[in-house]
Amino acid sequence: MSNDEWAKRDASVVWHGFTQMDSYTENSPIVVDRTDGRYVIDTEGRRYFDAISSLWVTTLGHRVPELDDALIAQLQRGAHTTLLGNGNTIVVELSEALAKVVPVDEPHFLYASDGASAVEQALKIAFQFWVNRDIAGKTTFLGFGGAYHGDTIGALSLGGGGFGTSIFDPLRFPVLRAPEFADPTCFNVACRMITDHAHELAAVIIEPLVQGASGMQMCAPEDLQRLASACNTHDVLLICDEIATGFGRTGTLFASELAGIRPDLLCLGKGMTAGYLPMSATAASGAVFNAFLGPDLSEKTLYHGHSYSGNALAAAVALRHLELIEAWDVLENVRERSQELEQLLDDRIAPLTQVRETRVRGLMSGIDLAPPRDGLRWGRKASAGAVARGVLIRPIGDTVILMPPLTVTSEELHSTVRALHDSIAELGDA
Ligand SMILES: Cc1ncc(COP(=O)(O)O)c(C=O)c1O
Repeated sequence: MSNDEWAKRDASVVWHGFTQMDSYTENSPIVVDRTDGRYVIDTEGRRYFDAISSLWVTTLGHRVPELDDALIAQLQRGAHTTLLGNGNTIVVELSEALAKVVPVDEPHFLYASDGASAVEQALKIAFQFWVNRDIAGKTTFLGFGGAYHGDTIGALSLGGGGFGTSIFDPLRFPVLRAPEFADPTCFNVACRMITDHAHELAAVIIEPLVQGASGMQMCAPEDLQRLASACNTHDVLLICDEIATGFGRTGTLFASELAGIRPDLLCLGKGMTAGYLPMSATAASGAVFNAFLGPDLSEKTLYHGHSYSGNALAAAVALRHLELIEAWDVLENVRERSQELEQLLDDRIAPLTQVRETRVRGLMSGIDLAPPRDGLRWGRKASAGAVARGVLIRPIGDTVILMPPLTVTSEELHSTVRALHDSIAELGDA
């Protein structure tokens, strides 16, 4: 059956996220039949380099034999048992391994399945933290312009809006909003807001170093240090949302490390299981966790938890993934390929008249196109051109995103940039 026929079957029963289903089939979707290393293969056997890591989750590539083995071994011990009130050995082992590497003091991990859920957990923990300590009034949050923390209502409230989500504005709870990263006053204003509103702030939430979904907007490590220090001085919790930046994306295991900050709450997801299974987590520092200790069934308990929290299959893959990141020296590859990508974009993409700016941090990069007027859908067209050349990408508006697997080779980077160059160049001037 052809790819087009599969796409029609798909459109008749599947509702795709962030996708207008009325034009779904017109945008030449790939229906993946199987995967191979860093490539996905459609129903007609065409291969595409997965240059967005399947929406930023695939770290080592698809079908990694070591991860497959870890999954199969765990399957033979049991796929899932509840963490509500009971434990599971593989989850204990994963948590011990994570505790050694996350930039959080004396961490405890509360597991969930998606990034948005990890953020919701962090918000509820931060809110209840102050209640449990009998400190009244610290009930609001500070988020940044352009932020994205997920689609559930709490996460959406802290996000900067956009992406067509303003329809939900009446449901979003009010928060304090610092400017966007691109605004040079951003961190001065944020720090002043923390000083002025500390009495009502439960926490500040930030995507450290790179705001992914707003098209790879970047900030400096020193600004994060200033923010963390303002939070610390004024008794406001700091939540780092590392759902996109975590697990090696920026060249260190976590972006917070690169900035030398240690948040009170850390949100993890996406690359946690190398792109194999849905798993996310909220890591809470010892000081935060301890505020929830008290008599059995008391009000100090965190009354929150998901059915698949700490899924054993996901935990087994996540644990093996951590070992492989170290054994394969993946972070070194990220740093080397990052420099190479930056050079390639400077040499081949930035000079194109259709390009406004390119940005790279680790293996996260955004290429802003410069359409001469609105409505030309250049992001969509450039991506379609790249897909036709065997490189799978998905734009955010008129920003083309490149986020290849962390094990990407030099050759793959060159061929990806070549395909992108040709697809952008053919946009013409109007
Ligand atoms: C920084 C950040 N936080 C949260 C999320 C939401 O994660 P999920 O889509 O797994 O709910 C995303 C997703 O892109 C993200 O980039």
